[in-house]
Amino acid sequence: MILRSTIDRIFETARVEEVIGEFVVLKKAGSNFKGLSPFTDEKSPSFMVSPVKQIWKDFSTGKGGNSVSFLMEHEHYTYPEALRWLAKKYNIEIEEAEQSSEEKAQMNERESMFMVSTFAKDYFHEIMLNTNKGKAIGLSYFKERGFTDETIKKFELGYCFDEWDNFTNAALKKGYDLKFLASTGLTIVKENKQFDRFKGRVMFPIHSMSGRILGFGGRILTADKKAAKYLNSPESDIYHKSKILYGLYQAKKEIAKQDNCFLVEGYTDVISFNQSGVENVVASSGTALTPDQIRLINRLTKNITVLFDGDAAGIRASIRGIDLILEQGMNVKVVQFPDGEDPDSFAKSNSNAELAAYLENSAQDFINFKVSLLLKDSNNDPIKKAGVIRDIVTSISKIPDGIQREVYVQECSRIMDISERVLFSELAQLLKKGLQEKSKSSRQQNTPQLNPNEIPPEFAIGQEQTKMGLVKGGAVTNQKIDQLSILENEIIKILLLYGNEEVEFTEEVIHVDDAGKEKIDTRKYENTVSAEIYVHLHEDEIEFSNVLFQEIYTEIIHQLNQLEKLDIDGLINHKNSEISTIVTSILMEKENPNRQLSNWEGQNIEVKSALEVLAKDVNDVVYNLRRVLIGEKIDELMSEAVSNQGSPIDLEVIRNYTSLKMRLFEKLNRVV
Ligand code: CTP
Ligand code: MN
Repeated sequence: MILRSTIDRIFETARVEEVIGEFVVLKKAGSNFKGLSPFTDEKSPSFMVSPVKQIWKDFSTGKGGNSVSFLMEHEHYTYPEALRWLAKKYNIEIEEAEQSSEEKAQMNERESMFMVSTFAKDYFHEIMLNTNKGKAIGLSYFKERGFTDETIKKFELGYCFDEWDNFTNAALKKGYDLKFLASTGLTIVKENKQFDRFKGRVMFPIHSMSGRILGFGGRILTADKKAAKYLNSPESDIYHKSKILYGLYQAKKEIAKQDNCFLVEGYTDVISFNQSGVENVVASSGTALTPDQIRLINRLTKNITVLFDGDAAGIRASIRGIDLILEQGMNVKVVQFPDGEDPDSFAKSNSNAELAAYLENSAQDFINFKVSLLLKDSNNDPIKKAGVIRDIVTSISKIPDGIQREVYVQECSRIMDISERVLFSELAQLLKKGLQEKSKSSRQQNTPQLNPNEIPPEFAIGQEQTKMGLVKGGAVTNQKIDQLSILENEIIKILLLYGNEEVEFTEEVIHVDDAGKEKIDTRKYENTVSAEIYVHLHEDEIEFSNVLFQEIYTEIIHQLNQLEKLDIDGLINHKNSEISTIVTSILMEKENPNRQLSNWEGQNIEVKSALEVLAKDVNDVVYNLRRVLIGEKIDELMSEAVSNQGSPIDLEVIRNYTSLKMRLFEKLNRVV
């Protein structure tokens, strides 16, 4: 855990325009900087950075925040990774919370392993480019395979001399400890001899998502049948084969941008694709795909396209692993290459445009692909066909989204020429089994068991749909929720921008005169905007429907009323990035190049008189909020009345609420 004091120092020191300037070309525009969005391919700049407020906002995607959130969005760093990046940039020493000496030792151990791996990567790369043997053997191998200098640099490819301990000696001479050379597997230590694991191989360094060196793949240069073609780093504290995707570090930005990830098998497939202009590609490195690897991709996109070599045997072996991707709610497509071709060879023998067109045109939906593949095998043998149906339905049952499952069932029914009913009932069986297994494993014996056999299958499929609609009081429609959110956002905005302002408010007081007639007096008084809003909402015990808005509101009110000063930086740099995003959006709203002018600006009214409009804005938003909430309350009472048939309806209560709502309407129209 990084200490709070270190985090504060990082935030104080980091300049958002400097940090972003490392990734985006920024031009001065008034008091701000402006640039092209790094998240889209836009042509006119809508990406704004405010050095004054130390925030950024991308108007083409709606993203925004501070330096840390930029690194998290752009580099896909985790929060601590982003902090460490900034600390490094600004030479800030990171202090960590007290760790046990065991934890400390383990961390130091991992750090040392990373350090020696980084050294190895640089060493292998250096000697390949700058020594005679390196050039003659390593570099010429890559050149023969058609890799350009640029590609070789991008992937930091290298070569390990064909000598017993050239690398190990170089590392020891630099002061690296043999212990870490051994634990990373770079050096094999036997009795008192030590030698280079990757001797005589060309090197593919393997990066983590944030760019640290986790390990290596080394390819043999000879066609020696006895030695393994590839040798990889052994499992260690930093290299976990099942959690690594080769090329992810180089591909992550493009995966997010294209909103799709191509998945191939080999190192060279990744590299050739890059050279052919397809950069959103990663490799599972010849192993069956794992849930951890899929999760890595899931952080960047919901869409995976799996690329299969031409040979059919390989496809059948790996097709099962794809259910894992469906389980994580991702969309899977499949591209099959012609017989005898793999992605690498195909990319080499076709132009960039041809490759792009092939990927685009031959991508097939996974379920359809699987159906046609398996049906081909079954040769219309009814027993085999039954097996195929079960197999396909198993895949469909892995999809978490009910609607999507239903669409696939319809599609399969069409392709396989089987009634939807049969498929649905098979699916219901599987879902039931899945549910039982789930409840067994979570030991929730109290939850009633669903028996999909007793429900029409169509219903069983749709079950999850109810989870998607917000059901509150039985009668809250989405439209109302939106209205509430808009008003709540408006309140937060007024508080953030004008919370401290003193404004003259007008209040209506109802008198009953001697003749018993109602008379409305107006009374003027001064108050700060925040106090005024607080009093109104507090009086009615109003809570925000949106928990984030509620949290921001509580914080702002606390700051303004107790500390008498709004700590905007605290909100911008809030540890909850969603809060930081909301606050940033409000603060940067004015900078939106596509924005509509607000009322007073449109009418060319000076900012000074904006304060006069403020009192009306405050009133409007508070009364509107009341009106919507009362409307909601009425709906709730009505629906209660409907569902509680038999018990008497309290019409009086509903009538009271309705008249209150009418009065609010009137008031809204009257308040100046
Ligand atoms: N692999 C491995 N160990 C092996 C063989 C393969 O780890 N002995 C992994 C490597 O990550 C390799 C991937 O499986 O990239 C795919 O294997 P293969 O298709 O045989 O290799 P290619 O990547 O096609 O390599 P090349 O083009 O150099 O033959
Ligand atoms: Mn190959």
